[in-house]
Amino acid sequence: MNELILAIESSCDETAASVVCDGRKVLSNVISSQIPIHERYGGVVPEIASRNHVLQLPGVIGKALEEANCGFSDLSAIAVTYGPGLVGALLTGVSAAKAIAAARKLPLVGVNHIHGHIAANYIAHPELKPPFVCLVASGGHSHIVYVKDYTEFEILGRTRDDAAGEAFDKIARVLGLGYPGGPKLEKLAEEGKNDAVVFPRVSFGDGCYDFSFSGVKTAVINYVHKQEQKGELICRADLAASFQSAVVEALVGHTMAAARERGVKTVTLAGGVSANGALRRAFDGAAEKEGISLYYPPLVLCTDNAAMIGCAGYYLYKQGVFADSHLNAVPNLKL
Ligand code: KG4
Ligand code: ZN
Repeated sequence: MNELILAIESSCDETAASVVCDGRKVLSNVISSQIPIHERYGGVVPEIASRNHVLQLPGVIGKALEEANCGFSDLSAIAVTYGPGLVGALLTGVSAAKAIAAARKLPLVGVNHIHGHIAANYIAHPELKPPFVCLVASGGHSHIVYVKDYTEFEILGRTRDDAAGEAFDKIARVLGLGYPGGPKLEKLAEEGKNDAVVFPRVSFGDGCYDFSFSGVKTAVINYVHKQEQKGELICRADLAASFQSAVVEALVGHTMAAARERGVKTVTLAGGVSANGALRRAFDGAAEKEGISLYYPPLVLCTDNAAMIGCAGYYLYKQGVFADSHLNAVPNLKL
């Protein structure tokens, strides 16, 4: 029998719901983005995000069921993101999921958002199986994860300060590009030279795969201030390209080194930053050189969505990992 999971994602500024069949077949993937709402503030305003999730969730869930051509009675379980993320935003999705589970007497599965990002690759690549090393780079996280099994993880490296996406967003703001900064900075960088300015690449020594992006961020800001003080023109495209290349080099270098150390021949990318074309090209080149099989999801599954939560939730469901009516939002949930 086909098992259908309704998944809900509301950890940041996307209200999303999806119906996933047997873990990897996406029957619907509805995403209502709040980008136009937060754009004018230059970033996500948590209170506004929560209020809009409350407004959008019923319609988004209804549309996900309609597009999947099913009703609540066809479902095997409800999966929901319960962390990490913005506490108020998470609570809206968790409350909706708990209400549906209670009303329809369905099992409830709490999903870690980072687990969801990793699972996006299973949807896109039916042949992909653990173990593999996954780089999860988004607005809130930059982790190198050893995926031992569908629900078993070991963190090999993490950022010690800013997440990669956060650094992209902050530098985009400095360059006057607006929110969300990552895709806009990537576009501007296409016209610039990667080696126009050499920004620092931070490494914590052999065997440590942690990242630090606050140094490169500060270096870019200092560079801009100095040029302004000297009254010299700044080539924004060159700055964008030089910054992007410093971040990409760290992400690729540390991830490939971690895979080498583990003797793992499969590497995957996940999270919003994995939508970046320069990052994908750099990984393509490095993977080819080292005989690594590289996987990344299509753009729509890189950034926040509920299909990835349905996929991750399916593997928890199969293992009988259920939540009860006490499920709460955990804003700093660890993998
Ligand atoms: O995974 P995601 O949608 O949300 C979080 O879980 O954080 O990631 C959003 C982040 C933002 O920081 C955004 O600027 C970044 O991913 N991002 C990109 C690109 N597209 C999205 N960063 C660099 N290049 C891109 N093309
Ligand atoms: Zn995310």
